[in-house]
Amino acid sequence: MTTVIAIANLKGGVAKTTTCLSLGGCLAEMGKIVLLLDLDPQAHLTLSVGLKPENIRYTASEVLLGNLSLVGASRETGTFGLDIVPANQSLSVVNKVLYRQAGYEFLLKQQIRALNDRLYDVILIDCPPACGPLTLNALTAADLLVIPLLCDYYAARSLRQTIGMAKLVRERTNPSLEYRILVTMYDRRIRLSHLVLEQLQQQLGHRVLRTIIEVDARLKESGVAGNPINRYAPRSRGAHQYRLLATELLSGHMMAVSTSRESPMSL
Ligand SMILES: Nc1ncnc2c1ncn2[C@@H]1O[C@H](COP(=O)(O)OP(=O)(O)OP(=O)(O)O)[C@@H](O)[C@H]1O
Ligand SMILES: [Mg+2]
Repeated sequence: MTTVIAIANLKGGVAKTTTCLSLGGCLAEMGKIVLLLDLDPQAHLTLSVGLKPENIRYTASEVLLGNLSLVGASRETGTFGLDIVPANQSLSVVNKVLYRQAGYEFLLKQQIRALNDRLYDVILIDCPPACGPLTLNALTAADLLVIPLLCDYYAARSLRQTIGMAKLVRERTNPSLEYRILVTMYDRRIRLSHLVLEQLQQQLGHRVLRTIIEVDARLKESGVAGNPINRYAPRSRGAHQYRLLATELLSGHMMAVSTSRESPMSL
């Protein structure tokens, strides 16, 4: 069975793309076959596996428009077990076109359903920092939404908005969508980070993943080098923490996403 994980936050620059690449790399290292799906017109995930978006003919755009299957648009990366459906700027046009199409939220879900579910263990979707058709397609198709979050002054606000979007999707197009919060770029030296993390854990309890991703310059470098962190710097703190995240998702939430349902939290 294929597990679909969307990585989204309406706020930009919170490590969505870094999490997609690093988690994908670590899952592949553990023997999983992973498909990365770049749904962001910025195409950062595509760039981070060493591809040039402007030179790519077949992208996620063709998949959403129904002209090509996911397999048709996918290609291997330099990491065994890690494939990608890339993106380029054409996705921003598709984003506008889809608005006018009834039922556009289900286009990706239909494409994933048409996929032989023995081909991929996990599909990881990198979303743009916006609540448009692209993100709504990702959330409608997903079993689990992972929300990367910075423990800063704006954390609560962006989290509230993103959880609000997830709840709308649950009501309208995907009742079984679960979400988890992933603290990223955590800096132990900053007092505010501790306070925000404490509050998060108090208010949202088990929805906050146990694994915390700390600041690590090697993570910044890995995308530029076109490799996931576990290959770029296998002994780095970033690699260790993303391996822990892969293990946490495999051992718990990812496999049991549709079984737990609790009362809505205050955020
Ligand atoms: N743990 C980390 N330590 C240090 N730098 C990080 C870490 N995680 C991500 N970064 C860096 O932070 C920046 C933003 O990360 P990233 O591009 O993954 O965010 P994003 O949420 O995908 O952004 P956008 O909303 O623009 O798509 C990048 O330069 C990335 O290399
Ligand atoms: Mg990004």
